[in-house]
Parts: sequence; C-alpha cells; structure tokens
Amino acid sequence: MNNELTNQVRSKCDIVDIIGERIPLVARGKNYFGVCPFHDDSNPSLCVSREKQIYTCFSCHATGNVFTFLMNYEHMDFKETLRYLGEKVGVDVSSVRVARKNTRFDPYYDAYSFSLKYFQNNLLSKAGKFARSYLANRGIDDNVIKEFEIGLSLAQSDDLTKLFVSKKYSLADLNTIGLSSDARDVYIDRIIFPLYDLTGKVVGFSGRIYQDNGMNKYLNTKETPIFKKGQLLYHYHVAREECRLKKSVIVMEGFMDVIRASTIGIRNTVALMGTALTHEQIQLIKRLSDNIILCLDGDDPGVHATLSIGDMLLEEGIEAKVLVLPNPDDPDSFILREGKDRFENLLGSVVTFNDFKLRKLKETVDFRSDEQTAQYINQVLQETVKVGDPIRVEIILKKLAKEFDLSYNTLEMRFRELEKPKPKTVKTVVTYQVKNKKKTKYEKAMEQILYFMLNNDWVISLFEKERFIFPNEKSRLLASEIVYYYTTYGDINIPDFYTYVQDKEEIVNFLNDILASNYMENTTREELFEYFGVIREYSRTQEIKRLTNSLQKEVDPIEQAKIAEKIRKLRIGDNKNGWRN
Ligand code: CTP
Ligand code: MN
Repeated sequence: MNNELTNQVRSKCDIVDIIGERIPLVARGKNYFGVCPFHDDSNPSLCVSREKQIYTCFSCHATGNVFTFLMNYEHMDFKETLRYLGEKVGVDVSSVRVARKNTRFDPYYDAYSFSLKYFQNNLLSKAGKFARSYLANRGIDDNVIKEFEIGLSLAQSDDLTKLFVSKKYSLADLNTIGLSSDARDVYIDRIIFPLYDLTGKVVGFSGRIYQDNGMNKYLNTKETPIFKKGQLLYHYHVAREECRLKKSVIVMEGFMDVIRASTIGIRNTVALMGTALTHEQIQLIKRLSDNIILCLDGDDPGVHATLSIGDMLLEEGIEAKVLVLPNPDDPDSFILREGKDRFENLLGSVVTFNDFKLRKLKETVDFRSDEQTAQYINQVLQETVKVGDPIRVEIILKKLAKEFDLSYNTLEMRFRELEKPKPKTVKTVVTYQVKNKKKTKYEKAMEQILYFMLNNDWVISLFEKERFIFPNEKSRLLASEIVYYYTTYGDINIPDFYTYVQDKEEIVNFLNDILASNYMENTTREELFEYFGVIREYSRTQEIKRLTNSLQKEVDPIEQAKIAEKIRKLRIGDNKNGWRN
C-alpha cells in the first residue's frame, strides 16, 4: 500500500513535534533525544531526526517513522493513525484504502465480531424482552445499548456453538478462544458486554446475570491468545482521544461505571474490571494523561484499591487525584441517584492522593493515646517526604504543627532526617530485542550499501546499472524493494519507504537494524566500488567454499574435473580486480 495522500500527510507533520507532544525531547546537535517509551529505561536513548523524519532507539532498536511511532505508542492501527494525523494537518484521507494486515488470529477476531452481532440481535429479539426491561430499569436506554454494543446470550446451551460448527470452526478452536466449552456455549442467559482491545476490536465478553438465579454476577472471557486482561483497560480506545481533549483520565472500577458516566457526557474514563492493576496497565493509564483521577467505589475495597493504585502511581512519579464517593456508592449508583451536576461538583473538588492517604490514615488513629499520635505524626512525615514540592511540604508541616501544638522546628528536623536515607532505587533496564551479535565485515558492507541506496538516488541507479547482486536473501529482498519503490515513485526517502514496507515484517526488522547501526549516509563513486568489491570478494570465497565441498562429495571423475576447473577460474579471479559476479 502506498498512496500519495499518505505521504502527503507524513510530509506535512514533523515527527519531532508529534513525539515531543508525548515525551520530553532535548535538542542535541541535529537530533532530538528522549527516554524511549518502548522499553524500560531512564536514559535518553531515543533519537529523533527532524531531517530524516525517523526515530531510532539505540538501546532496544525500536525504529520507524511518525506512523509507526503513533501506532506503537498509542496502540492505534494504521488507519486510525492516518485519520488522526490527517485531521491534524488538514488532509482529507477518507479515500485512502488501507489493506488490512492478515494475522493468524484473524479467525479469532472474526469469531468475536460474529458472536457480538449474534448477541446484539438476541437482545432486540422477542427472547430479549426480560433483559431489555432489566436494562431499562437500570436506566440503560437504547442509545447506551448501541454505544456499548450490549447484547444477550440465550438460555439454550449450545446454539452459538452449533452456528460456529456449521461455519467450520472446530470445537478445539472455540474452546481456545473461550466461546465454547465441552461443546456447550460459555455464555448462557446473560447480558453481554463486549470487551475491547486497545485498538477497539472486540476480544472478549463479560456476561451479567439479569435475574436472580444463584449464578456468579459476572462471567468473563478467560485468558486467550487475543484477550490478555492484564494488558487491557476497558474503554481505552475511546478514552484515548477524550483524555487528550479533557486533559485528564478518570479511572473507575467497573465497566458499568464507565457506561454510566458516558450518559452524562463523560468519556475520558477507563475501567479496571476487577483485577489487581498490572505494571502494563499503569503505563497505559499514564499515557492517557498525567492528570489521573482515581474514582473507585466508595466502599472499603474501593478505598483499599485507591490506596494501592495511588502508591503504584507515586512510584512512577505521578501523584494522582482522588474523587471521593460516599460509602458505599460507585460512580454508577451515585450518578444515577444524584445526577450530572452533583457528580461534576465532586469532579471539581478532587483531593490530592497524599491528602487522601493522610485522611485515611487519620481515621484509624486513637488520638487519646500519645503513642498512637506520635506514630501517626511520624507516618505523616514519612508520606510527606514523597511529596517533593517544598512549598507543599512547608504547608503540611505548618498544619501539623498547629494541629498537634508542636514546634515547627521539631517537625522539620524529623522531616530532614527521614528525607536523607534515600537509596536510589535501581531500575532494571530491560533491553529486549538487542541482539549483540557481532556483524562481519561483509554484513556491514552490505548494510552500508543498502543505507547508501536509501539516501542517494544515484546509488540506486548505479546499483541497477552494475547489476549488482547481494549474496544473501535478506539484502536481496530489501534491495529489490528499494529499487522497485524508486522506479515506481521516482524518488525515495526513508520515512515514506517505511510506510510502504510496514506490513513486511522481515524487511521492517532488517531496516530497523540498519537504521539503528549508525552507518554513513553519503558516499562517493570510488568508495561505493570499494564496498561492492568487498561483497564480491565475499561472494567469490563463498562460491569457492561451496564448490570445494561438492568436489569432495563428487564420485564421477568427469564431473570432478569440471568442478575443479570452475574453482581454478575463480581462484585466478583472485588476482584480478575486475572480477564480476
Ligand atoms: N467483576 C467480575 N466478577 C464479579 C464481580 C466483579 O469480573 N463477580 C468485575 C467486573 O468487570 C466489574 C468490576 O469487577 O465491572 C467491578 O465490580 P462491581 O463493582 O461488583 O461491579 P458493578 O460495576 O458495580 O456491577 P453492577 O452494578 O452491575 O453490579
Ligand atoms: Mn454497581
């Protein structure tokens, strides 16, 4: 897929701006540097080039153009990325057709979108009467049903499985993706809430009972190759854009809370779906906004979860805000009962996480006991160490001094003591993908030639004229793509070439490897011929090796003689400079 519009969008936006909006970049020489978001690091190993319009991480070798950056960083697919950038630079991209990349999981995704339609139909059918009235009773109207694609699984136990079997799905596959189990449907007589992956594809379901039948309230899809709960957040694909507009993200416990919030026009929300938060989910939340509002249930488990998530975020250097709901409300029940304005009032009066934590701490202390009081004050000081902002520290210390009638100096002294022993937490740098395999002289020469080709039209022409052939498959493949691109479009640059090869994984990997290797960009004719010479020399010695091998295996004396002659000719070529392959 290559399209003028696509390249137009790419050339109209500056990769430094787009990346710079998301992570801090510092100019150094011609390039910009930042902390790479694609591996765990705190060193600025990501290099962004304004001139070349590409980025490269020298540590994890993540490389690409503005499209690949956004696709990987924002978890958008190519089409979404194109639409997003198109809007930004004012190019209408609606006519661009994007061929979908096929993956081995396609049948799984297809099964989920088929099931979704099936469940949606059920809800609208006669069999959905009770479920519809349950939803109506909960204040979920047709618009909400449509927006969140809510459906219904029927009371029969194998109708969906049968449908799939008639569509030639195997029971084993249906089991793997969590839609059937022992030839029976997994979801029986439940209201179905689809669960989406980060790009908005349906990859799982949560089924809720709607009449009291003694079953578990919710039944969720098990972990499958396409549904990894710890890597997802409910509503992420919608929140991504909304959070940017609203400049904040609201974290809730259940998807019903998110659904309810949408009815009052609040959509910068994600839900955790009842599991402990993983490191990956924390990173996802951070990416939505650094203004994070925790809005969990007002009951004890909710307070507990708020404390633990807030602490996890503090470790990441972010102090969240907390929207405090009355016990035992969740956002759903609060909004339903109190309405939009009251909820927005609460949103306007969030407290900082540290205040929330101290408030909770205070509730557990018996202030008649000197010991408990002293312990409390020490704990407050300990938490205050994490605050960072010296002005806030002073405010907290002053309040504390007043409240407990202590001298400010005593508190400050104790505070400084606690501040001191801060052993730097050593972050383990995960450098995945880094293959430190030493490259041979020949490999380097091949990659250098390919890099010259990407940067200089005349090198491609010369390469063609010389009918140069690389001795290995990988380089031949990349070279032929470069030549094809150049002859088709009459011009070549790395970022557009990137878009063109993006679906060819092998080529992209090789290209990344080359771009991360610091090769020279420009060359002269003489120098280029030297590189060609190195490769030809390599091809020749390889060929001699191969022939010598087959000579040893050959039994027919006439054939032996033929091979020996070939070797001899190649060896003579040894002394001549003009040898061509
Ligand atoms: N959850 C679950 N299984 C349960 C209970 C909860 O998977 N038995 C998950 C669901 O993803 C749910 C989230 O935990 O969205 C929050 O649970 P809870 O607060 O109990 O759900 P509510 O949103 O209050 O659901 P409802 O109002 O429908 O009872
Ligand atoms: Mn609820």
